[in-house]
Amino acid sequence: MTTAVQVTGLTRQYVMGGEPLEVLRGVDLSIAYGEIVCVMGPSGSGKSTLLNIVGGLDRPTSGSVVVAGSDLARMDDEQLAVYRRRQVGFVFQSFNLIGTMTARRNVELPLLFSGEPEDQRTARAAAALQAVGLGHRLDHKPTELSGGEQQRVAIARASVNEPAIMLADEPTGNLDTHTGQEILSLITSMNAEGRTFLITTHDRAVAKAVAHRIVTIVDGAIARIEQGGTL
Ligand SMILES: Nc1ncnc2c1ncn2[C@@H]1O[C@H](COP(=O)(O)OP(=O)(O)O)[C@@H](O)[C@H]1O
Ligand SMILES: [Mg+2]
Repeated sequence: MTTAVQVTGLTRQYVMGGEPLEVLRGVDLSIAYGEIVCVMGPSGSGKSTLLNIVGGLDRPTSGSVVVAGSDLARMDDEQLAVYRRRQVGFVFQSFNLIGTMTARRNVELPLLFSGEPEDQRTARAAAALQAVGLGHRLDHKPTELSGGEQQRVAIARASVNEPAIMLADEPTGNLDTHTGQEILSLITSMNAEGRTFLITTHDRAVAKAVAHRIVTIVDGAIARIEQGGTL
């Protein structure tokens, strides 16, 4: 199986004040294992909505989303929760770490939810943090880490369960340019080791630096797909 994500005829409508708001209007997108795809587009174009639907945080109005061979539309809420824990890794603009927990505990969380025994959790979380260059920060809490370090912890947490797809919503949006570039290099090196990424950004330089393919959405529809700078 070479297709990680297959999105077909995806639409998402919200009803606001009785009026339908067409946020996604028939999106078709296929992502191969080993690819980095960036979704670009202006603010409000539907990037986060697309990512949230692929990640099982939101549901389509119509159309299908198949990830690692499973059709999300056929899943009930409980199956979707399992899907989110096992098949997807989320990285957000604002890191979304738990402030009271150390880096290691944050990274252990997905393993805790999937029932991994404690000794394995501890070891795998430490290895994931080592892999993002934070082997020396295991017992630091988020407030004791820089923004770039916090995003590395978030990336370690998102990858520790070996998900089929890593989803990153504006992962460099809260970082200065230099730190953002370091995060993009980390993503590139994780991709070289086989990880698949779907990343949103409104910044063309970010997409150019990291993507194999750049998909531009305008008003909820794909306006353009181009080869990125890394091919
Ligand atoms: N839960 C919601 N209810 C109503 N409208 C929403 C909701 N989520 C997003 N929207 C609207 O959908 C559009 C696309 O939002 P979003 O996907 O967040 O865009 P982007 O990430 O490209 O900035 C925006 O106009 C936003 O206001
Ligand atoms: Mg967004």
